[in-house]
Amino acid sequence: MTDVRIERDGAVTTIAFSRPDKKNAITEAMYGAVADALDAAAGDETARVVVLAGDGDDFTAGNDISTFAAVAAGALDLADSQVGRFLRAISGFPKPIVAAVTGHAVGVGVTMLLHCDLVYVAEDAQLSTPFIDLGLVPEAGSSRLLPARIGHVRAFALFALGETLSGVEAVAAGLANRALPAGEVPGAARAAARRLAGKSASSLAATKRLMRDAEAIERAIRADNVAFRAQLATPEAAAAFAAFAARKHKG
Ligand code: COA
Repeated sequence: MTDVRIERDGAVTTIAFSRPDKKNAITEAMYGAVADALDAAAGDETARVVVLAGDGDDFTAGNDISTFAAVAAGALDLADSQVGRFLRAISGFPKPIVAAVTGHAVGVGVTMLLHCDLVYVAEDAQLSTPFIDLGLVPEAGSSRLLPARIGHVRAFALFALGETLSGVEAVAAGLANRALPAGEVPGAARAAARRLAGKSASSLAATKRLMRDAEAIERAIRADNVAFRAQLATPEAAAAFAAFAARKHKG
């Protein structure tokens, strides 16, 4: 059971985080399944567009914190983890990715949007990247990509103050295309994906490649990863993971 739903409708592949009782927090198995699905879609010329979504009310509450805790405790080496595969698959995906974001989008739930091409968001969605509150640093290349997208001070407030953006604010900041009532978000994403699927696949692929500096993005992802791994080993990070686990068990 990988807690990822993969559905094909014509040329559109939907990949949905599907662990709603845990706010779609992403486990190792889920990263692996999404990476597999993206790799399969990349190599299948009849698959022209991907929609990335979350089942239930939320997009995703980010990395499963127990995975961070396992790395911090030395039980898992991040170098062997599926996160790296996922980041390579999404950042290098050659075809359009359309995101449908509702409810909570935390951490990688926001930073993965920087690797998507169209983003539809619920007006009342809550987007946050509280890396510093967890004793961590930004990941997925977001240390460079987020300030480039929304400006340094807004990105710093998200990273360092742990501020939350609503869907409406995310559109104003340039992180998303349109904010809609939550119930309309999946349909809007699917409709956009279908429109893209009807266009020249080679034009779309070339345009995406020209718009993104692949080498710079890869460098940013690597740099974030080095700092992230170092921060995972700090007492501040261990304390933050323990605090989340304690909150969870308070009932
Ligand atoms: N990792 C592991 N489990 C998570 C999780 C995560 N990132 N986010 C949520 N969950 C689990 C909770 O532990 C809880 O499990 P339980 O029912 O077994 O206790 C369940 O999902 C529901 O979450 P809960 O915290 O009760 O929902 P909420 O509506 O009160 O709060 C959030 C939602 C997203 C604000 C809150 O869950 C949260 O802060 N999650 C952590 C987000 C995070 O820091 N992610 C990593 C970023 S780098």
